[in-house]
Amino acid sequence: MAEQPRADLISPDTHGPRSHTCGDLRADHEDAEVTLKGWVDTRRDHGGLIFIDLRDRYGLTQVVFSPQDNEAAYEAAGRLRREDVISVRGTVRPRGDEMVNPDLSTGQIEVKVQELNVLNTAETPPFLVSAHEERQMDTSEDVRLKHRYLDLRRPALQDNLVLRHDLYQTTRHYFDEKDFVEVETPVLMKSTPEGARDFLVPSRLQPGRFYALPQSPQTYKQLLMVGGMDRYFQIVKCFRDEDLRADRQPEFTQIDVEMTFATEEQVYDLTEGLMADLWADLEGTDLETPFPRMSYDDALRTYGTDKPDLRFGLELNDVSDAFADSGFRVFESIVDDGGHILAIRVPDAGDTGRAAMDRLEEHVTEEIGAAGLIYFQFPSDGSDMEQNLSTDAMPKEYGRAAADQIGAGTGDLMLVLAGQAPTVYHQAGQLRLHLGEKLNLRPDPGEGPDRFVWITDFPLVEYDDEAGRYVSMHHPFTAPKPEHLDRLEDNPEDVEARAYDLVLNGNEIGGGSIRIHNRETQEQMFDLLGIDRDEAQERFGFLLDAFRHGAPPHGGIALGLDRLVMLLAGANSLRDVIAFPKNQSGQEPMVKSPDWVDPEQLEALHLQLDLPPDVEPPAQVARRSRLAT
Ligand code: AMO
Repeated sequence: MAEQPRADLISPDTHGPRSHTCGDLRADHEDAEVTLKGWVDTRRDHGGLIFIDLRDRYGLTQVVFSPQDNEAAYEAAGRLRREDVISVRGTVRPRGDEMVNPDLSTGQIEVKVQELNVLNTAETPPFLVSAHEERQMDTSEDVRLKHRYLDLRRPALQDNLVLRHDLYQTTRHYFDEKDFVEVETPVLMKSTPEGARDFLVPSRLQPGRFYALPQSPQTYKQLLMVGGMDRYFQIVKCFRDEDLRADRQPEFTQIDVEMTFATEEQVYDLTEGLMADLWADLEGTDLETPFPRMSYDDALRTYGTDKPDLRFGLELNDVSDAFADSGFRVFESIVDDGGHILAIRVPDAGDTGRAAMDRLEEHVTEEIGAAGLIYFQFPSDGSDMEQNLSTDAMPKEYGRAAADQIGAGTGDLMLVLAGQAPTVYHQAGQLRLHLGEKLNLRPDPGEGPDRFVWITDFPLVEYDDEAGRYVSMHHPFTAPKPEHLDRLEDNPEDVEARAYDLVLNGNEIGGGSIRIHNRETQEQMFDLLGIDRDEAQERFGFLLDAFRHGAPPHGGIALGLDRLVMLLAGANSLRDVIAFPKNQSGQEPMVKSPDWVDPEQLEALHLQLDLPPDVEPPAQVARRSRLAT
């Protein structure tokens, strides 16, 4: 329904600049003559008085209109709606005792309005925008993204962007003090292998050729080290065309760092110092450093993941030996094939009812994808252990032996999964996280203590069954441990890398390595990854060439800036800490990107569309481009 225009309300701004923001005024401003400008957050008519909460980025101030002070302003105020933009002139006065709002920084005062200018009117917003309404759970995210400029008026979102800004400041200051130089690297570049697909940009001047947007500035920062820049950092956009999740965006920001002659210890120390400064400046808390370290192998065996959340227990235990001769054929054949039987002790869950256990079993098979869940319950009244397997299939003594091994007893529940590594570890890790959430052991975002951990001693490569070849665990420029170099050819899976990840509360917030800096090792690495000499020269010749000209040893790290802000803000999604994020389908619903382009643009780039049959381009694109379909 078309809205009544209220254009007649709008008047020129005769008030000049604002004297204060909507968050400034306090009791000691009593009697001050002030000019405030902002948005109408809420309006309340109280027979003879109109109260408006005026909002800007800095806060809310209550302004009061009465016909005695200014009849015309009072009338106009009666027609104001949410999100109209106004300027008021008036006098600060204390609120009556019973009207003081202790939750508001300006809650001691209000402004008695003498003059009103309506600077602009607003249509009814598609969803409620108010400083009084922190969460907009009932409005779909796409609607909010479509009107991001409205959603951005919410203090929660604005606070996140201010926090992000503060993080830039502390970061730049930190690195500057330590002699790091911020250098910009190209955005139109050549593909770097970080494991995702590239976003491509066609070249007009070089028909048929494409730039790739950087998945990271990895090769450039290494070339800066060869170039003698010694210490580099950059707050930099990276682009990866991969499936999106709450903690992944196709364009995201890294704090990218590289140092010449770096050792692992120097990178840990430098990164921990930055985290300590960020937590001190942004959270006001002291972080305990150095952070604990855990090998990749331990993380996988104990938590089923290389990004363990250390804020709660429920660790995994290998109980293969306890069940080795249990007579239960499923377990025995898994162990015979080199697999593992893993158990989790869940304290105080020994009395869980049948229905809840059925739901857990269903979750394990349907969501996690394990073949089955075997469980053992130790009722809190001390009565006999129960298992969801007949005693014919497996006598109870085996469950008891496993329970003894992991310290499960009266009142506890023991959950058991079996399978081949690494799948069974990943499944048990997912089960652990699920239990952590179900049992409220896993603090909500922004709650509870922050637990950092370095994950170290990663394998250099893993075998990719689908691709039928080895792939890097990090990227192909990661140095193998020198003492493992001789295994590179025959036993590549046993080679450990000089790589590390930084994990916070179960989130990977950074990753890096000491790099390969000589041509021979780099070529050996490409061989291992199935990149032949010609292809290596074609794709990375510039780096191999650079390594011939006195490349110094170097190493570094990149931290996920958006993830750091998300965790510091206690937000659930990266979308809450990025001004204009993409949705789950990689689109930006407000400007509608990606979008069709003019046929002339395609022509200039020598491109033709070859679309799947179910994709219909708009008429003008279809008509004028030579569709190959
Ligand atoms: P890596 O690929 O581990 O390393 O990336 C570093 C950090 O960037 C963050 N991150 C992301 N954040 C949001 N959305 C994404 N799609 C996304 N992908 C990654 C993560 C991750 O830990 N060049 C190497 C670094 C190095 O070796 O120095 C690199 O990019 O927090």
